[in-house]
Amino acid sequence: MRVSVASIPLLVTISRAQQLFITTTGYTDRPQCTLSATSPSYHFQSFSFTLNDTVRQAHILRPALQWTANRPRYATSVPAPTSIRTYGPPYSEAIHHLTATPATTTWGNYLPESTIITATDTKDPYGQAAWSSLWQNMKLENYTTAGLYSTTVLPTPVPSIELVLPPRDYFGPTDCYNFPDDFILGVAGSAAQVEGAVALEGRGPTILEKLAGPAQFKNYVTAENYFLYKQDIRRLAAMGVRYYSFSIPWARILPFTLPGTPVNQQGIDHYDDLISTVLDAGMLPIVTLTHFDSPWVFVSSHDFTTKADIGATTGGYQNETFVDAFVNYAKIVLTHYADRVPIWVTFNEPFLYSFNFAGANNVVNAHAQVYHFYHDVLKATGKIGIKFNDNFGVPRNPSNSSDVEAANRYQELYLGLFANPIFLGQQYPDSVLNTLPGAKPLSKEELNYIGNTSDFFGIDPYTATVVSHPAEGIDACVANHSAENSLWPFCVVEETTNVFGWNIGYRSQSYVYTTPTYLREYLSYLWNTFRHPVFVAEFGFPVFGEADKELSDQLFDTPRSTYYLSFLSEILKSIHEDGVHVMGALAWSWVDNWEFGDYTQQFGIQVLNHTTQERFYKKSFFDLVDFVGARLSSPS
Ligand SMILES: *[C@@H]1O[C@H](CO)[C@@H](O)[C@H](O)[C@H]1NC(C)=O
Ligand SMILES: *[C@@H]1O[C@H](CO)[C@@H](O)[C@H](O)[C@H]1NC(C)=O
Ligand SMILES: *[C@@H]1O[C@H](CO)[C@@H](O)[C@H](O)[C@H]1NC(C)=O
Ligand SMILES: *[C@@H]1O[C@H](CO)[C@@H](O)[C@H](O)[C@H]1NC(C)=O
Ligand SMILES: *[C@@H]1O[C@H](CO)[C@@H](O)[C@H](O)[C@H]1NC(C)=O
Ligand SMILES: *[C@@H]1O[C@H](CO)[C@@H](O)[C@H](O)[C@H]1NC(C)=O
Ligand SMILES: *[C@@H]1O[C@H](CO)[C@@H](O)[C@H](O)[C@H]1NC(C)=O
Repeated sequence: MRVSVASIPLLVTISRAQQLFITTTGYTDRPQCTLSATSPSYHFQSFSFTLNDTVRQAHILRPALQWTANRPRYATSVPAPTSIRTYGPPYSEAIHHLTATPATTTWGNYLPESTIITATDTKDPYGQAAWSSLWQNMKLENYTTAGLYSTTVLPTPVPSIELVLPPRDYFGPTDCYNFPDDFILGVAGSAAQVEGAVALEGRGPTILEKLAGPAQFKNYVTAENYFLYKQDIRRLAAMGVRYYSFSIPWARILPFTLPGTPVNQQGIDHYDDLISTVLDAGMLPIVTLTHFDSPWVFVSSHDFTTKADIGATTGGYQNETFVDAFVNYAKIVLTHYADRVPIWVTFNEPFLYSFNFAGANNVVNAHAQVYHFYHDVLKATGKIGIKFNDNFGVPRNPSNSSDVEAANRYQELYLGLFANPIFLGQQYPDSVLNTLPGAKPLSKEELNYIGNTSDFFGIDPYTATVVSHPAEGIDACVANHSAENSLWPFCVVEETTNVFGWNIGYRSQSYVYTTPTYLREYLSYLWNTFRHPVFVAEFGFPVFGEADKELSDQLFDTPRSTYYLSFLSEILKSIHEDGVHVMGALAWSWVDNWEFGDYTQQFGIQVLNHTTQERFYKKSFFDLVDFVGARLSSPS
């Protein structure tokens, strides 16, 4: 059944999922308590140290640790795989579905100190000289290759002492729900935020090297995961993580970006080995085709003084050459790896980099073409979809129809813009067509081709936003497309406090507030509006001031545990009480990473030491894995 966003009354969804503003007096009920008040009886007894609260049942006991009465409990690693499932044809067969077999080559490294191009193949448009010029022309500020590593590091076993569980938080979940057997618990990261090695092994330049962060906060090294991936994967497997979500940079596969240009053999080999390493560790890979790291060429002559109509900046999606080039790149990656990767994501959070209507429209079209190639041409049987950013817009006062109208508008501009056509085969929302310059409806044929082209609704529901009607009215605001009108194009008021002035939740060091009950409401909204399994593709919490703390205090990250366990508890209620199909959840991020120009907003469930490149498990990582493991009867 196809249902329009507008035809679903938001209030119905809200009242089913969560009851806001129930007026009550008196104190919190304790329905579970049957004892009536008694007077204590004070008495003496002999004293000994008997507190057991950190004693946890041992899973694996190492003899060396048995000297202590407090037998530690260890994280349980994933078992070694007994067989590898396939989801599509191997490369040798898949390659016949490309119109031409792409040429491959290798380019090597661009080192800042070698500013003189010594290559002599200057006539070759894709030769060594041309490749070096890509980097030279970027004129990167403070560019350095000063990482610790220049080649793949072999992994070492994770010492079992690192796997001892931390003391529990006093308050914790007491629910009795289980996750469905096929629930996907994983951890996520993206290439630009962890890989480093930006100009090494033939990678081409991307927008992020140039645009992300002010010059002094640029970081071309990050977590050096490009060289440390084997150890990183081993550390995740040791904790019992089952799905590892990463992104492949287009510029590593096609340094010259465009159709017909040669493929970087070192890039292909790298991700081939990364996928094998994940599978050998007993985990499954989830791959995103583009995560904010568009090749630089799409914006090389973009006028960066023009203000974006939508989103944060440009990913070059609005470039007229973008769609064909993206589809060509995606086909090359899919033919190589579709056999071993069960879950694919085409675009990460496209809204933020769409720039204008044309950018969003190109994303919708490119995504649909890749979906059809994957299922109709390759006949691959895994899942392929798209994931969005959107901090759920909830009406400030859900019984005020103007606020509900504002919340619907907010959701339409953020999600309906992409999701109406992709999930429902429906036209762009009227609010989009009436607001964004150059917006054009899709034809019936286009809608037929684009409709139902995502196997899941990927969402990064970090937190919620309280939305209300603007004082001047929505229509007047939409008509006022001037630079001073900061409300345009949404034309709603966005806040992080509720109608009574309280913060909507406990605040992190960013836009993220701990808002589990809004998450449950949100999952209902997405499932009942867009009618596809919901995949929580990122969720996470940067603890306030964490980067300033001592290591041991960074590791004991109770606010992050609260965030994860409360969100997962609400996901369980959503599944069991609201009938919402939540397909899985990926924690962001598996390590503290480069947050596009910032290292202080630490989203990681492992600490990263930037000097030594050491990783340290945080408490929340154990709590997350333990919460899910305890509620998963036969893990997928
Ligand atoms: C410690 O554990 C023992 C055995 O489970 C239990 O009988 C005892 O009550 C516990 N003591 C405390 C202080 O929790
Ligand atoms: C380079 O880094 C320094 C110190 O971190 C900073 O002051 C400067 O603005 C950066 N950019 C350039 C172009 O040097
Ligand atoms: C659009 O992309 C092409 C490469 O396909 C590039 O040559 C052109 O400069 C880009 N346009 C802008 C405005 O950056
Ligand atoms: C909604 O709230 C606004 C103030 O935020 C108020 O002016 C308006 O009358 C309310 N609308 C309704 C239908 O209650
Ligand atoms: C969407 O596609 C799925 C998978 O091919 C199919 O099962 C489902 O029936 C389709 N839904 C609609 C509304 O066409
Ligand atoms: C447009 O919005 C700005 C900022 O709110 C305001 O200063 C300006 O007067 C508005 N212009 C019109 C024509 O309403
Ligand atoms: C990183 O490790 C080095 C060497 O152990 C240590 O001196 C430094 O304090 C650590 N940095 C942080 C931020 O913990």
